[in-house]
Amino acid sequence: MSEMLEKARKYEEEQGKQIKAEDRPAFHISPYIGWMNDPNGFSYYQGEYHLFYQYYPYDTHWDSMHWGHVVSKDLLHWKYLPAALAPDEEYDKGGCFSGSAIELDDGRQLLMYTAVDHETLEDGSKRDIQTQAVAVGDGRDYVKYEKNPVLTEKDLPEGASKVDFRDPKIWKGKDGNFYCVIGSRPADGSGQILLYRSENGFDWEFVSILAENKKRFGKMWECPDFFTLDGQNVLIVSTMEMEAEELEYPNGNGVVCQIGHFDNQTGQFHSISSQSVDYGIDFYAPQTMLAPDGRRILIGWMQNLASVNQHSEKEPWFGQMTIPRELAIKKGRLIQRPVRELDACRHNMVSYTNAIISGEKTLKGVCGRIADIELSIAPQSEENRYYMFEMRFAQDDKHYTSLRYHPHESELELDRSYSGSRIAMVHKRSCKVQDNGGSLKLRVVIDRFSAEVFVNDGEQVMSITFKTDLKAEKISFVADGVVKIDILKYEIK
Ligand code: FRU
Repeated sequence: MSEMLEKARKYEEEQGKQIKAEDRPAFHISPYIGWMNDPNGFSYYQGEYHLFYQYYPYDTHWDSMHWGHVVSKDLLHWKYLPAALAPDEEYDKGGCFSGSAIELDDGRQLLMYTAVDHETLEDGSKRDIQTQAVAVGDGRDYVKYEKNPVLTEKDLPEGASKVDFRDPKIWKGKDGNFYCVIGSRPADGSGQILLYRSENGFDWEFVSILAENKKRFGKMWECPDFFTLDGQNVLIVSTMEMEAEELEYPNGNGVVCQIGHFDNQTGQFHSISSQSVDYGIDFYAPQTMLAPDGRRILIGWMQNLASVNQHSEKEPWFGQMTIPRELAIKKGRLIQRPVRELDACRHNMVSYTNAIISGEKTLKGVCGRIADIELSIAPQSEENRYYMFEMRFAQDDKHYTSLRYHPHESELELDRSYSGSRIAMVHKRSCKVQDNGGSLKLRVVIDRFSAEVFVNDGEQVMSITFKTDLKAEKISFVADGVVKIDILKYEIK
């Protein structure tokens, strides 16, 4: 093991255990210590789910990228393992960027990641050189391949930049070959996704330009993922420098899902429809895996890239993952639901049927900062349409985060303006939801410092983080008009 990895492992071991469990999310992944961004290597290997993550243990800001590592039996209770990779080679001294994992035919686990190096230009300025590298291991310790990097500038199609060539997502094809998709920047300065093939995981060849952005969705595309789901092909990319479009796409960084068709002959993906993956504020760089039971499960980094430098130096960890979500396609749209394993963690049910909300109201037993809440809302009667329904949570006398529904506009809004933040950043985002005459189904999963809202059985998801004091655990409901709600509320253990 390199000195650099040994140092990181020693540091996290000493520092990580000093963070009290109560100061972290209960069932969402947070870094052992320091900084975390993208999920990497999400996979099932030797009886456990593995998740690696972009990691800088020594500070709560992005810096020289390592890979952190956690494992779980149920995708909700995670155990910290020692850091898996450090940027300890000449070719990856600028960082071990995002990548993925797969089991090799001989039973070893392969990690494929972007190795970052630098070059100095004539004017003295530096720029990245991004290549792809691999490491093999046993689910605990990994050794980098002696012939790294395995994909370099010479494997790029004409015009593609060696500065932006990153985030390999690997899978095993039906033909027994390994494939991977990688984000790239063509000469037009926009984004494209490249497809590569390998017989053994170590020797790779270029297949095709799978998809071209042509500046339709932002510019550069990072963290691609490509898979089949319910008989269709799905391409998910994290987009940079987006322009906002209605309530569908935000400014800046977004995550776009395209559903379409892959042409085996040309190696090209043809998009039929597109949508945002998450309509909340904090979501980026998701990655999926195929579980042994055939479920396609997605996990994302629950953070907004635009606000990563706003936190206080005193916080011992920064960044968390979303809850893992089961994917499906229904009526041409991506559907996401919390993994069914969450159902087994629910306890202490509190329920109300036909509770009437008019003005502000609390319901006895409906409170807490670790909760899974199912809510059906409807107008009290046909003649009695309401104008607004709101659920406030993480609430005390002064603070709350709110989920607000305007049935006449079919708009759902998440708003953390009053969560206690002192920073001028994005605090609100809205989305259009299906107009069901004022009826709406919500599932709100709250875990101390975040909430994920699943709308109408997963047609939309909105994720948000907040730092409100943990004592703020009230939940209340507000209606302009008269609203009838059914509610099931559970604690999570
Ligand atoms: C996305 C990203 C990836 C890159 C990684 C570096 O958040 O920029 O493209 O591999 O983060 O940490």
